[in-house]
Amino acid sequence: MNLKLLKKLVWCSLLVLPILMLLVGFYNQDKFLMRNSNRITALKPACEANYSTKKWNAHNSNFTRKTKLFLSLTDFFWKNFNSTMALPYGLKGTEQLMMKILAHIPYSEPPQHIQSLNCRTCAVIGNGYTLKNSSLGSIINKHDIVIRLNDAPVRGYEDDVGNKTTMRLFYPESASTNPEEHNTPDTLMVLVPFKFNDLRWIKEIILDEKRNLKGFWRNPPQIWQGDLNQIRILHPYFLYETATKLLNIPTNFPPKSKQKPVHPTTGILAIQMALHYCDVVNVAGFGYPKTTDLDHPVHYYGSNKMKSMKDSSHDLSAESRALKTLMEAGAIQLLRQPS
Ligand SMILES: *[C@@H]1O[C@H](CO)[C@@H](O)[C@H](O)[C@H]1NC(C)=O
Ligand SMILES: *[C@@H]1O[C@H](CO)[C@@H](O)[C@H](O)[C@H]1NC(C)=O
Ligand SMILES: *[C@@H]1O[C@H](CO)[C@@H](O)[C@H](O)[C@H]1NC(C)=O
Ligand SMILES: *[C@@H]1O[C@H](CO)[C@@H](O)[C@H](O)[C@H]1NC(C)=O
Ligand SMILES: *[C@@H]1O[C@H](CO)[C@@H](O)[C@H](O)[C@H]1NC(C)=O
Repeated sequence: MNLKLLKKLVWCSLLVLPILMLLVGFYNQDKFLMRNSNRITALKPACEANYSTKKWNAHNSNFTRKTKLFLSLTDFFWKNFNSTMALPYGLKGTEQLMMKILAHIPYSEPPQHIQSLNCRTCAVIGNGYTLKNSSLGSIINKHDIVIRLNDAPVRGYEDDVGNKTTMRLFYPESASTNPEEHNTPDTLMVLVPFKFNDLRWIKEIILDEKRNLKGFWRNPPQIWQGDLNQIRILHPYFLYETATKLLNIPTNFPPKSKQKPVHPTTGILAIQMALHYCDVVNVAGFGYPKTTDLDHPVHYYGSNKMKSMKDSSHDLSAESRALKTLMEAGAIQLLRQPS
């Protein structure tokens, strides 16, 4: 090989190499941009079948999905749910009342277009102050199923919380008089029965009987302007599972014990329900502000302060531990605005 040729080769490679590197660089940058712009436009949350179940089972091997969420009349001829517990964890003592109610509402799971999806993404929207100015509305709306809690408003907060509501969990004291105001016509209104009076109340509403307002810690609405056919009753199984498997709190409070009964919040219950029903579970608006300031607002709406949480009948530290565990296991993801 002569010297001239060698020189040429060296020059060539000196020239070609940077061009090659530049090209590879562009290519990688392109991929990087593509990945990130996908994230920014957030077309639709990714769905992988059984994703949350797999993650949760890798952490806690005893979880099996139950996708039938609501009670139906046929449950009373059931084999596998013979309740030995009273409300809110079982149906003992309420069977007759329950049958009267269920005879008057149609049974159906969420709409057919959701039932037939082979992969379901869910967003469970807590009512926390963290949603304020979050701009998460459009991401929330892109989930197949959006689950909301109690009387949390939507109108006027769409940019932060979205405007789609597939299901709303509530109990009498947290119900709103006009469910149409902050829901859509196809929203399923899911009653979580905590006590006998809760069922009595919904029966009076559904059958339009004389209202009896005794036995509530806050007056529930006496009229229901929404479509009664959209009411469902959540299976107590989910509250039982939340208490015993997720929170590890007692479910038995002997009448004479001084211990004040503690129940899961509808928020953690909604997450547990979503883990059963959905393939991917994303959450927003959960957790309380890390503050000792009792005047700090609690919700993204209204004026409740942290101090109003002090005497709640919930075990808030067990709930935040459970949330942390679920997140660390990857079973649920916190929705964030891409920055
Ligand atoms: C998801 O889990 C269900 C129930 O365990 C199972 O029947 C189904 O085949 C799973 N699907 C996939 C894609 O893994
Ligand atoms: C799973 O269930 C079995 C039997 O019910 C129990 O012995 C075991 O401790 C459970 N494991 C976990 C991780 O909860
Ligand atoms: C359900 O409860 C009834 C009455 O308490 C009892 O007779 C029946 O054997 C139970 N069924 C099952 C499957 O445990
Ligand atoms: C939310 O945005 C409004 C208007 O930009 C602003 O006045 C308010 O301070 C913000 N609140 C929070 C909690 O960031
Ligand atoms: C939600 O907001 C979008 C965009 O503003 C609008 O097109 C849609 O009709 C709204 N849906 C409901 C149920 O309000």
